[in-house]
Amino acid sequence: MSKEIVVSGIRSTGNLHLGNYFGAMQHYLKMQDAHQCYFFVADYHSLTTHPDPKDLKTNVFRVVAEYIASGLDPEKAVLYAQSDVPEIPELYLMLNMLAYMGELEKVPTFKEKVRLNPDNVNAGLLTYPVLMAADILIHRAVKVPVGKDQEQHLEMARNFAQRFNSRYGFYFPEPHVYRSNEETVKIMSLDGLGKMSKSENINATIYLNDDDDIIRKKIMKAKTDQGPQETNAIMPDYIQNLFLLLKLTSKSETYEHFLNAYNNCTVRYGDLKKQLAEDMVGFISPIRNKANDLQRDDSSIRKILKKGAEKARESASITIDGARKLIGINYY
Ligand code: ADP
Ligand code: TRP
Repeated sequence: MSKEIVVSGIRSTGNLHLGNYFGAMQHYLKMQDAHQCYFFVADYHSLTTHPDPKDLKTNVFRVVAEYIASGLDPEKAVLYAQSDVPEIPELYLMLNMLAYMGELEKVPTFKEKVRLNPDNVNAGLLTYPVLMAADILIHRAVKVPVGKDQEQHLEMARNFAQRFNSRYGFYFPEPHVYRSNEETVKIMSLDGLGKMSKSENINATIYLNDDDDIIRKKIMKAKTDQGPQETNAIMPDYIQNLFLLLKLTSKSETYEHFLNAYNNCTVRYGDLKKQLAEDMVGFISPIRNKANDLQRDDSSIRKILKKGAEKARESASITIDGARKLIGINYY
């Protein structure tokens, strides 16, 4: 039986963080054996904010280095840069004809960007979900591992697929969000204000390239309070987040120990944070060191991307040929 097709990508807009790791990459790692996976760096998506051309390559190569250092295997999954697959912008153009202004203007992520950057409301920002749909449909993927913030974009991808199918005949299967573990859907920032992110809450986000002392400092500064006042108290969300990180990176005995201490009101957050900081350093430092080594090896990353682009284009060109024929672009 042929393997199910999976697509996902991360924008090259800054350093990857624990939210990207546990919200997305952790699922990629679990899927790469049993599925046909296409994982890419969304560099076209990063252009909405006009990054400095000098930084583009470094940003893209860093994401690839962090993908591989985290355990993605380019022999199992196809790893590529979005801009190396010209069939994606071609499908994006086709899908744009099926996307309505009204629905694009209503997307919450678009409205939020307009609110934050009223001087840069470009058409690329408006059609961001169409490009994302093209990324997915170009391989006719059925599963898309992404965090909770991307669910609406996936719904739009399904709508565009359905519209194409009802106009031209069934062609695109409907893609759905995939997660192997509901718990890791969202990692909050350590100040309790919003989520960990590439560009916001920088001092309260742990990045995969933070050095050991920075990791310790950020965790020791994480928001806590005077502790639970009654046994088995409900946890405030910022404490829940610390326990989630403990669960994800520490031994299960350590997690159980602090959970029991919380439940019987003897927890000392200073001790919890010290332990979490050490376990986090143990978790991140091998990834960081490997990514740094890889990033210095420019030619290996280049080779991986070139090979990935070839494989991605094999699948993409079949899809685009079929779409052209269905639309009627079939003259010779
Ligand atoms: P960012 O929001 O940091 O710029 P992206 O938008 O490129 O990151 O997201 C890449 C992937 O990481 C997406 O699947 C997204 O859902 C996931 N993700 C981003 N931030 C978090 C977070 N704090 N918690 C869980 N998942 C996240
Ligand atoms: N929009 C996604 C994000 O901000 C990144 C992305 C672009 C993506 N194209 C995709 C994710 C296709 C999955 C599939 O996180």
